[in-house]
Amino acid sequence: MNIILLGPPGAGKGTQSAGLVERHGMMQLSTGDMLRAAVKAQTPVGLEAKAVMDAGELVSDEIVSKLIDDNLAALDAGTGAIFDGYPRTAAQGEQLDAILAKHGRTLDHVIELEVNVDALVERITGRYSCANCGALYHDTANVPAKEGVCDVCGSTEFKRRPDDNEETVRTRMEEYRAKTAPILPGYEARGIVTRVDGMADIDAVAGQIDAVLG
Ligand code: AP5
Ligand code: MG
Ligand code: ZN
Repeated sequence: MNIILLGPPGAGKGTQSAGLVERHGMMQLSTGDMLRAAVKAQTPVGLEAKAVMDAGELVSDEIVSKLIDDNLAALDAGTGAIFDGYPRTAAQGEQLDAILAKHGRTLDHVIELEVNVDALVERITGRYSCANCGALYHDTANVPAKEGVCDVCGSTEFKRRPDDNEETVRTRMEEYRAKTAPILPGYEARGIVTRVDGMADIDAVAGQIDAVLG
């Protein structure tokens, strides 16, 4: 099973991917996470991507598609892939089709997380993650069971993303509207799109996604 989780910044792609990994043993392929790792490691890709990401704009199609191709090549053939934050442009959509064909995979579902745009800034500016394992939290909507301690790994160190400020979020949302939303009709024509209510609470969204996966 190979699926795309599609939705604007803060829609819950990363949160729902983590749940799918846990419940179904799938692999999350997040180009945002890959790029942040490259920035941290100061690789050539990271050095090129940093300023673009900090501005909330899109990194080049070639860079992100190569990241996806490399990661998919390393993935066991029996493990399903969750594409999180990719594809984001029409060109990336075409590149993904070619990459999937190359690795003998097919795209089963495109799941669109439908959200109210007004809620997204609040979600994103309240987001933080475990500095050790990356588990995602939110100041009010998703706090660890024990305050200040990661549920997953017990770490007490947390961090926030440099692009999670209101101004950059507005640019990211505009990039989504202008470049990413237009790729949906193509998938609709293939009959593989399902919309889920991304405004429901996290467990309810997960239940809707599981219903799609069957
Ligand atoms: P990326 O990392 O993909 O960021 P994004 O698309 O802006 O999405 P987010 O990660 O902000 O949101 P999310 O949907 O994962 O939400 P989350 O689950 O965290 O990309 C970052 C940058 O990298 C881009 O701007 C670009 O520069 C570059 N890039 C990446 N991929 C690229 C590509 N393919 N092409 C070109 N450039 C690329 O949830 C958000 C918060 O809400 C959390 O705090 C969470 O706890 C909370 N929350 C989640 N679900 C719920 C819920 N149901 N109810 C209440 N709260 C919730
Ligand atoms: Mg994310
Ligand atoms: Zn942790």
